[in-house]
Amino acid sequence: MEKRLQKSLLVIFLMSCIGRSSGQTCEGQCGQKLDSCSCHETCASLQNCCLDFKEYCVDASPYSGTIFGGTDFIILNATFAQNSNVTCRFNHEIVTHGYVDIENKGHCISPLLYETGWVPLEISSDNGITYNRLGAWLSVHPGKLDPRFRVTLDNSTKWQYYGTSNTKGSLQMTWNTSHVRAENVNIELWGYSEQGQPYSESWHGEWTYLYSLAKNYPNNGSFSFVPKSAEKPFSDWELGSVRVSSSSHPDGTWNVHAVWTEDHALAWHLEEKFREDSAAWALDKCLKWDELEKELPSFQDEIIDCPCTLDQARADTGRFHTDYGCDIEKGSVCTYHPGSVHCVRAIQASPKYAAGQQCCYDSTGAQVLTADSIGGSTPDRGHDWGSPPYRRPPRIPGASHWIYDVLSFYYCCLWSDNCHYYFKNRPSSDCRTYKSPKAGVVYGDPHYITFDGNRYTFNGMGEYSLLLSAKYGLIIQGRAEPVTMPNGTLARATRLSAVAMKEGDSDVIEVRLIGPEDSLQVLKNQEVLLFSEQNWMDLKGVFVFAPVAQNVTVMFPSGAGVELRGRSGTLATTVLLPEEFWNTTQGLLGTMNDDPKDDFLTSDGQRVPHDQNSPEELFTFGASWAILNDSSLFTYDTKALLDKYFYGPKHHAEFTPVFYVPENPDDPLLTEASELCSGDGSNFCKYDTLVARSLMMGNATRVSFRSHMAMVEALKPVVTCGWLAPPSNGEKEGTRYLEGSVVKLSCNTGYTLKGSKERRCLSNGQWSGETTECVPDRTVGIAVGSVIGGLVLITFLTAIILHSRRLKRK
Ligand SMILES: *[C@@H]1O[C@H](CO)[C@@H](O)[C@H](O)[C@H]1NC(C)=O
Ligand SMILES: *[C@@H]1O[C@H](CO)[C@@H](O)[C@H](O)[C@H]1NC(C)=O
Ligand SMILES: *[C@@H]1O[C@H](CO)[C@@H](O)[C@H](O)[C@H]1NC(C)=O
Ligand SMILES: *[C@@H]1O[C@H](CO)[C@@H](O)[C@H](O)[C@H]1NC(C)=O
Ligand SMILES: *[C@@H]1O[C@H](CO)[C@@H](O)[C@H](O)[C@H]1NC(C)=O
Ligand SMILES: *[C@@H]1O[C@H](CO)[C@@H](O)[C@H](O)[C@H]1NC(C)=O
Ligand SMILES: *[C@@H]1O[C@H](CO)[C@@H](O)[C@H](O)[C@H]1NC(C)=O
Ligand SMILES: *[C@@H]1O[C@H](CO)[C@@H](O)[C@H](O)[C@H]1NC(C)=O
Ligand SMILES: *[C@@H]1O[C@H](CO)[C@@H](O)[C@H](O)[C@H]1NC(C)=O
Ligand SMILES: *[C@@H]1O[C@H](CO)[C@@H](O)[C@H](O)[C@H]1NC(C)=O
Repeated sequence: MEKRLQKSLLVIFLMSCIGRSSGQTCEGQCGQKLDSCSCHETCASLQNCCLDFKEYCVDASPYSGTIFGGTDFIILNATFAQNSNVTCRFNHEIVTHGYVDIENKGHCISPLLYETGWVPLEISSDNGITYNRLGAWLSVHPGKLDPRFRVTLDNSTKWQYYGTSNTKGSLQMTWNTSHVRAENVNIELWGYSEQGQPYSESWHGEWTYLYSLAKNYPNNGSFSFVPKSAEKPFSDWELGSVRVSSSSHPDGTWNVHAVWTEDHALAWHLEEKFREDSAAWALDKCLKWDELEKELPSFQDEIIDCPCTLDQARADTGRFHTDYGCDIEKGSVCTYHPGSVHCVRAIQASPKYAAGQQCCYDSTGAQVLTADSIGGSTPDRGHDWGSPPYRRPPRIPGASHWIYDVLSFYYCCLWSDNCHYYFKNRPSSDCRTYKSPKAGVVYGDPHYITFDGNRYTFNGMGEYSLLLSAKYGLIIQGRAEPVTMPNGTLARATRLSAVAMKEGDSDVIEVRLIGPEDSLQVLKNQEVLLFSEQNWMDLKGVFVFAPVAQNVTVMFPSGAGVELRGRSGTLATTVLLPEEFWNTTQGLLGTMNDDPKDDFLTSDGQRVPHDQNSPEELFTFGASWAILNDSSLFTYDTKALLDKYFYGPKHHAEFTPVFYVPENPDDPLLTEASELCSGDGSNFCKYDTLVARSLMMGNATRVSFRSHMAMVEALKPVVTCGWLAPPSNGEKEGTRYLEGSVVKLSCNTGYTLKGSKERRCLSNGQWSGETTECVPDRTVGIAVGSVIGGLVLITFLTAIILHSRRLKRK
């Protein structure tokens, strides 16, 4: 209730400002508003009316940087006196010192954090006495950061293996000198460790300055050194990062302008014992880790199962996302998963233990399992991307995953040949419990394909509930506006132009089509989010991924995903829902329960028959799902939007669409439309071309339809029989476990096969035939033995006889 009140206050406040003539200030009002409110989003609203808002609200440039900190950013929209003492406070707790440059611009340095996502930023110009400016800073996972912004480990393989046999010489690192503002730099090693009882209150992780590799070194962009083994206690640090920072700071000063390498296994600095016999050293570590794993709770049961096929994995975008380390789009450099061409990670960490899941696929699209190959999919005790609320293990992005899942891989698999210990604790799950999500879509001048497969058109103008699900508090709303024909006239048909959504008390995300080129704009709680520096953002209760201006993916903790695409002036919107939403959805995308008959339920519970319905009847059904001012998630930040959709009705009953397009044989566009639109779904393509007088629009409809059908096809459930073990003392041929796959089994010499030689995965998920065994062929052995023995005896006797005859002849 309080929230709703706050929001309507905000909207009303915004209203009153928009009415103001430009040039007028509203200082008092804005000052007061800011006092009582600490969130950055207030600034976005103030911006519309208050000339003096700049005094209070600032942007940072760059607005993002590595979780390690050290990024120097400019405080935009404010000038500072030369003698100001600028300090920045992050998260209301970490203070870093800034400075004022010759153009009177204030700068600050981002701090080392243990979390990713936006953190509140407060700025003071009087050395921290008052913090009167607000902003936000985006902390980014090292793996998601543009590599240009970090120190590069030249030949990272050599860094990883240095100290094992056959590694010698020097190691080199390089950096962009303009990222450290100094003539001379210190090059420092920092280490990460975790202490305390796992999964208890005392569990925590920490970065610590260890020692300097060089001091007062020229900032010339490259440094090479011959690594020496460290002595205790430093040699106990196995995960670290090298920092390059100005030599003017005392060693190990926190939060100064600096660049960092990736976090990496510190092979090159480990104790002398490692160099003497790295395999033995590593095995010892591997065994200790194995012991530790026995004591820690098992997390495998609560992580999501892997999709069975690469197609499923790439289509299930609400729950799985490309692993940055093994991406088929980027040439598949799969260092830790040889033989795989693509891996995905479960987006959400598991509920209790915050564990992660990683799923890898080979070039045929089959899942790779650790039971068959070293490149298999492996679960993770710590999710690589961390998980909200971050800050403490195992939720610290990157670092926790390194400690529990990556270092142990080095010990057991890379530095020694004992990978079976690793896979014992991190086995792939075959996909036997995986259930693919269901997809519904809105595209073109809006055509709907419900989760249960009904296809219909609803050309209302207004704002409607595309989907509501009380189970997770998921709300997805769409705004439909008239289509503009190429000649500028408005058509009597609409298209989606904006979609707003949230789940539970997550941030509200709105995606809207702006400008030419079908660019999409993303708003978070009514504030524009720029994806100019980063394409992934960890927000409150939601993740957003925007790799290009036309593509946005929104991912919620329930596993619901929303794919948005700008296409020829339309906003194609696909909603993916996992099975947990079964029979809990309402709205224009219908009830998801595999029953197409109950999809057309009006907001007051009337059922519209799903077959013999007319476009007019469906129009009434659609109109019933108009939203209310109270429930609207949209931002009304222009006069046009306010007039049309805030003060105006949510469903514009005065707008009647064209229900049937006359096909005039003399219309040249009809011929072209008929050529363009063929096959399944062609009626919508044709309708859109003719009603919008645009082949481009028709084509967008066709493309959206096809890509939806391809997605539905990719998500089709597949039957798997699960991993099949080779018989002991035998082998198997074949590592595919889906319906129709055949696995051949054979025995080593000296053994006889009992059971099936060949097993096929049947449609009921069972393997055909019987369990295969290899039994030692003792009985056969005796028989063969006696035959050979007999032959030897005969030969021997013959030889004696011949010999005695020869003797006799002599
Ligand atoms: C802040 O400054 C930047 C760069 O000068 C400008 O692009 C942006 O519009 C300003 N923001 C506001 C809210 O005035
Ligand atoms: C900044 O700090 C210096 C030294 O602490 C002090 O002399 C100066 O007055 C401060 N300037 C401002 C504007 O507070
Ligand atoms: C990296 O170092 C290894 C070991 O010294 C060497 O074999 C390899 O050729 C190097 N690779 C590159 C690209 O320099
Ligand atoms: C170094 O960084 C600066 C500032 O980010 C950039 O303009 C420049 O192109 C970079 N140089 C190289 C060689 O990447
Ligand atoms: C950087 O400075 C070091 C130390 O003076 C020198 O050995 C090295 O060659 C320099 N590197 C470059 C790229 O200038
Ligand atoms: C634009 O095209 C439509 C359909 O052909 C037509 O009805 C309308 O009058 C045209 N508008 C203008 C301004 O020519
Ligand atoms: C954007 O979306 C389109 C259509 O789904 C897809 O073909 C394309 O690969 C996407 N681009 C990126 C960079 O993800
Ligand atoms: C789906 O939900 C509706 C209303 O909540 C209920 O009446 C119906 O029985 C449910 N259907 C199934 C198959 O559970
Ligand atoms: C929304 O609120 C505004 C302002 O109170 C009002 O003028 C408008 O009629 C409301 N719209 C609806 C659909 O209730
Ligand atoms: C339709 O759109 C697709 C994707 O944008 C494009 O590749 C294709 O050439 C277009 N076809 C026509 C006939 O415009």
